[in-house]
Amino acid sequence: MSAYPIQTHDYDVVVVGAGGAGLRATLGMAEQGFRTACVTKVFPTRSHTVAAQGGIAASLSNMGPDSWQWHLYDTVKGSDWLGDTDAMEYLAREAPKAVYELEHYGVPFSRTEEGKIYQRPFGGHTTEYGEGPPVQRTCAAADRTGHAILHTLYGQSLKEKAEFFVEYFALDLIVTDGVCTGVVCWKLDDGTIHVFNAKMVVLATGGYGRAYFSATSAHSCTGDGGGMVARAGLPLQDMEFVQFHPTGIYGSGCLITEGARGEGGYLTNSEGERFMERYAPTYKDLASRDVVSRCITIEIREGRGVGSNSDHMHLNLMHLPPESLHERLPGISESAKIFAGVDVTKQPIPILPTVHYNMGGIPTNFWGEVLAPVQGEPDRIFPGLMAVGEAGCASVHGANRLGSNSLIDLVVFGRAAAIRAGEVVDRAAAIPATNSAEVDRALARFDGLRHANGGTPTAALRLEMQKTMQSDAAVFRTDKTLAEGAQKMTAIAGRLGDLKVTDRSLIWNSDLMETLELTNLMPNALATIVAAEARKESRGAHAHEDYPDRDDANWRKHSLAWVDGNEVKLAYRPVHLEPLTAFEDGGIDPKKIAPKARVY
Ligand code: FUM
Repeated sequence: MSAYPIQTHDYDVVVVGAGGAGLRATLGMAEQGFRTACVTKVFPTRSHTVAAQGGIAASLSNMGPDSWQWHLYDTVKGSDWLGDTDAMEYLAREAPKAVYELEHYGVPFSRTEEGKIYQRPFGGHTTEYGEGPPVQRTCAAADRTGHAILHTLYGQSLKEKAEFFVEYFALDLIVTDGVCTGVVCWKLDDGTIHVFNAKMVVLATGGYGRAYFSATSAHSCTGDGGGMVARAGLPLQDMEFVQFHPTGIYGSGCLITEGARGEGGYLTNSEGERFMERYAPTYKDLASRDVVSRCITIEIREGRGVGSNSDHMHLNLMHLPPESLHERLPGISESAKIFAGVDVTKQPIPILPTVHYNMGGIPTNFWGEVLAPVQGEPDRIFPGLMAVGEAGCASVHGANRLGSNSLIDLVVFGRAAAIRAGEVVDRAAAIPATNSAEVDRALARFDGLRHANGGTPTAALRLEMQKTMQSDAAVFRTDKTLAEGAQKMTAIAGRLGDLKVTDRSLIWNSDLMETLELTNLMPNALATIVAAEARKESRGAHAHEDYPDRDDANWRKHSLAWVDGNEVKLAYRPVHLEPLTAFEDGGIDPKKIAPKARVY
């Protein structure tokens, strides 16, 4: 047994992470009477979902005609035909229900004149299967939608008697005979170690945006779930697909919501030209995110960037009525002032595509159950473990996520995980006993890092990783950048054994916590660049200049990456092509979602 004193906790369900997905799962579990713990490294309402601005997609039809079939079509097209059709159908169908539930829980949505939930246009969301004008599908609470959702779900979870373990850092999963039976955690404010035994562990740990140098993601977005899963010998899926949001503030990377363009904002280059009209004649500034990010990058490359270094673009809101900026976009008006020194009523905002979201993650089915694919069994379930939200890959976003499909993913699949747990968790069974060997293994790793005395400070290695990912796994990629990047990242990951931690204490030791986070970021980053190097086509966010076309015959498949130290093993699993509901039973016409050229 380890030298660290340990406190043990027994729960039916342990949720790791308290963002939108973690809280929705926690609430759903607690509502069903499961003894539920939510373990989180930051206070719940400081989770990164708090930064989600523009809104949550659902075909409510409050501002004009809409349908779940149109939402499904847009999501399929947005994913560049890599998403799993059953999961995408589940998302589009369940979205209205999930949003009305949020409304009833108390989310203070903005309102129309008639008192309905206000909805704004967002990129890639259309009517008539992409043939009609943009649809107003994105339900908004001004430009602080994530903030509103997070506060509401936290309050509701407390009401349902979910128990919160705040500022606990999850170190590693406990796996007993091929079943996840718990998680080992370090309590940051007093240095104690805690073992949570549970019948179901739900990872809701968010994305790994901080593997890059410039990201809209919070510093806490370090792919902790992916790191734990990789160490448990499970694969990560579709990691090569990293979303760049078109409008991060130049310099700081802080998000300016796509809702700004939804409300009528537009982009211009150094010639004052609304260049998106050239690239996406129908949807212009409201084309899908990957498309807009690429167009901005091309404009800059071709010398039409703004500023003294011609290296960014302008987002214009000056023509919008000040009262509508005040009512609909107060948060970004403030951010533009603070981070760019710009008064949005008078000046354009300097912007640049910035890493924003990971389409890839821990492979799951649409109930959130984690998959452990083996030859001939691509959908094999790993018992006792679920993953939801950005940490998971269901896969609803495929190669590119539509704006506002993230918040709806969080609540639909957080809710789905709870529904599924209600079916598969045996209420009568005993909570699994502590697996001491597994706890010892986790604590040996923890202790090794705590006393790491090599030659490389954590911050130095992290910076090398971030700079490499930023330059070599960027908006546009080539065989050369990816091969060099994969080689560099393999060497960088190989230096995790040479880390130096200077603070050996156990209480509020940010040096150690950042080191643990780096050991989680690294497998995510390595899987990203290795899987990207292997994928010889362009699809969604993976824009490969040496293979500019999508290649459905060879590459309409999910990549799987097993990371062990600095080695990555790749394999592939098929995309689910079958919808949940047959056409004759009220499902979508399969012809509508058949692959075709992706133009906006
Ligand atoms: O632009 C935004 O408000 C971001 C939304 C999203 O990523 O879904």
